[in-house]
Parts: sequence; C-alpha cells; structure tokens
Amino acid sequence: MTDLYIHSLAFHTPEKVLSNDDLSKIVDTNDEWIRTRTGISQRHVAGAGENTSDLATKAALKALKNAGMDASELTHVIVATGTQDNLSPSVACMVASNVGAGHVMSFDFSAACSGFIYGLSICRSFLCADPKAKILLVCAEVLTRRVDWQDRTTCVLFGDGAGALVITAEAENALAKLEDIQCLSDGDGRELIVVGGGTACAYQKGDPVDSCYFIRMMGRETYKFAVRNMSAICHELLDRNGYDISDVDLLVAHQANIRIIQAVGERLKISEDRVFTNLAQYGNTSSASIPIALSEAFDQDRIQPGSLVLTTAFGSGLTWGGALLRF
Ligand code: ACO
Repeated sequence: MTDLYIHSLAFHTPEKVLSNDDLSKIVDTNDEWIRTRTGISQRHVAGAGENTSDLATKAALKALKNAGMDASELTHVIVATGTQDNLSPSVACMVASNVGAGHVMSFDFSAACSGFIYGLSICRSFLCADPKAKILLVCAEVLTRRVDWQDRTTCVLFGDGAGALVITAEAENALAKLEDIQCLSDGDGRELIVVGGGTACAYQKGDPVDSCYFIRMMGRETYKFAVRNMSAICHELLDRNGYDISDVDLLVAHQANIRIIQAVGERLKISEDRVFTNLAQYGNTSSASIPIALSEAFDQDRIQPGSLVLTTAFGSGLTWGGALLRF
C-alpha cells in the first residue's frame, strides 16, 4: 500500500456572518435554543454571486501556497461537495482552471458530510495507482443556499466554507501521514438526511421552487445514527492499529452538533481537552467541517509534530467513516 501524506491544510469561509440573533429576525428561533441544542453561535454565509467554486478556489490557492507547490505540478483535482454550482460542469473542473492546474483529471464526488474522509480514501487509491500523483483535495459547500429559511429545524444548523489539502506519496516536508482509514455506507437510511434538487425533484420552468429542493432531516434519528456509528468506527480504527484512546492527542469529529461530538467523546472516554470543536463560529459546513477544524487546530498549536489525530464523520447517504492521522 502506497503511503499518503498531507502537505498542507487551508480553509476559506465567506466574510458575511449570520449570528443567532440575526437568524431570530428571519425565523422563529432564539440564541439560547440554538446554542444549547447545537453549540452554534454563528455561521458564515456566501454573498450574492459567491458560489462553491469561489470558496473552493480560495481555499485551494492557500493550500498550494502553504505546500510551496505550483498548480502546474498537480495531477488530480478532486472536490467533495453536495452543493455544486451546477450539476455539471463539476466544481473540480472550475477549480483546476481557476488555480492554473492545466489539463489534469478533475471530478466531484458526493459523500455528503463524510466527504473529507471519503476524499482521503479516494486519494490513497490514486496514489496506489500512481505514486507520483500530486492531488489537490478540496471540500467545499454553500449549504445556506439549500436551506429553507422558514424551516427553523434545519436553517439554524448550516454554514458555508471550504477546506483544501495538497496530498502526495512523498514524506519529505509533509505535515501528516495517513495511518489508517475506513469508509462505510448504508443506503437503507437514505431518508434521514436529503438534499434535493436532482431528478427526484421535478419541476417545470415557471413553477415555484418545490420544498423537495431544500435540506430535509430527521434530527433525532440522525443524532442516534451519528453517535453510534462514529463511536464504533473510532473504536475499530484504534483496535486494529493497537492504539488505546489515551494514545490519541486530538479528536476532530465532523462539526455537526456539539451534543453529538460530546456524546462520541464520552463513548470513547476521551477527555474534553482532547476534543476539538469550532462549530460555534462556523456551524455545520458538511464536507468542509473537518478540514476547516484541522486547519484551525493546527494553526492554534492544538496539533503538534508527532500528534495522533483521530477524525470521524457521518452524513447523508447514509455515509460515515474515520481516519487516523499522524502529524
Ligand atoms: N428554535 C427554537 N425551537 C426549535 C427550533 C429552533 N431552531 N428547532 C426546533 N425547535 C423546537 C421544536 O419545534 C420542538 O418544539 P415542540 O417541543 O414544541 O414540538 C422542540 O424545539 C424540540 O424539537 P426537536 O426537533 O425534538 O429538537 P431536538 O432536541 O431533537 O434538536 C436537532 C434538534 C438540534 C436538529 C437535533 O435533533 C440534532 O442535533 N440532530 C442531529 C442532526 C444533526 O446535527 N444533523 C446535522 C446535519 S446532517 C449532517 O451533518 C450529516
């Protein structure tokens, strides 16, 4: 198996911020309910005309700069997103063009909020096929354009942002090495979280936008699924690599809800000071949440050279996964 090394981590979020108080002017909610039930205080919201490819490009340019890599060296541009600018062309094609990557293999894939973990696994496969590959992996979302602002049960949860990484099989100058990874899915749970807008959401020109276009979620069931499966996959990764939870320096879970993250932390018996959260500032940015969190944790020196970082995510599909990273 070819090794996978992360050479840089970067993120970008839109300038515009929507606080819980701002939201309570749009929909029947309040800061206290949102903070205590979700841990979210504010979210970043893309401005008019600002799209997923714009956020992705900004994060990608930072990641390339941090890696000291010219875009012309890239062989692949891969984007995890559930909120593409358009169904086609892919965001990845636009990002490859925007950063000046030239003629490279570019594609988007859909694994919802598990996009970062799935993306690492996809990159590992490409590196096995071609150990000389230099891959730009971007996880980018403009979820706020897919929420129904009249549905208080979902619109308070989501925010916009992008995270980007440069990945190769070369250890030199790398930030982190992927030690192990697992990705799983269960389509029987397809109704729990749905982001519409595809062929199941038919409309004729001139029709009002149908409610199927927006994010729908069964919150309680999603909560239980998330806690159960993220904990289980973390246990499995630790067990099969001979680690104990005390070996983990930082848990960076998908930033969906503080109560989910705390419940996973309790099941894993990891102390709170070794659990990173930043969803208070960003809300749930789906696939982008783990790379944004990893970038911030790294910038804040919560991750040091030698740190073992356990990451885990869940999302629509249903999908879930986990990865062990050694910095
Ligand atoms: N403001 C005020 N009141 C609200 C709001 C709101 N924004 N939303 C719901 N309520 C009310 C409900 O109407 C209900 O009122 P009632 O008791 O009078 O009927 C009450 O609060 C409780 O509603 P529940 O939906 O039961 O609230 P719950 O405690 O389950 O919290 C939440 C909802 C936060 C969504 C929770 O179920 C949850 O965290 N689920 C996990 C799902 C998640 O985080 N998904 C992330 C997106 S998917 C992904 O990332 C892959």
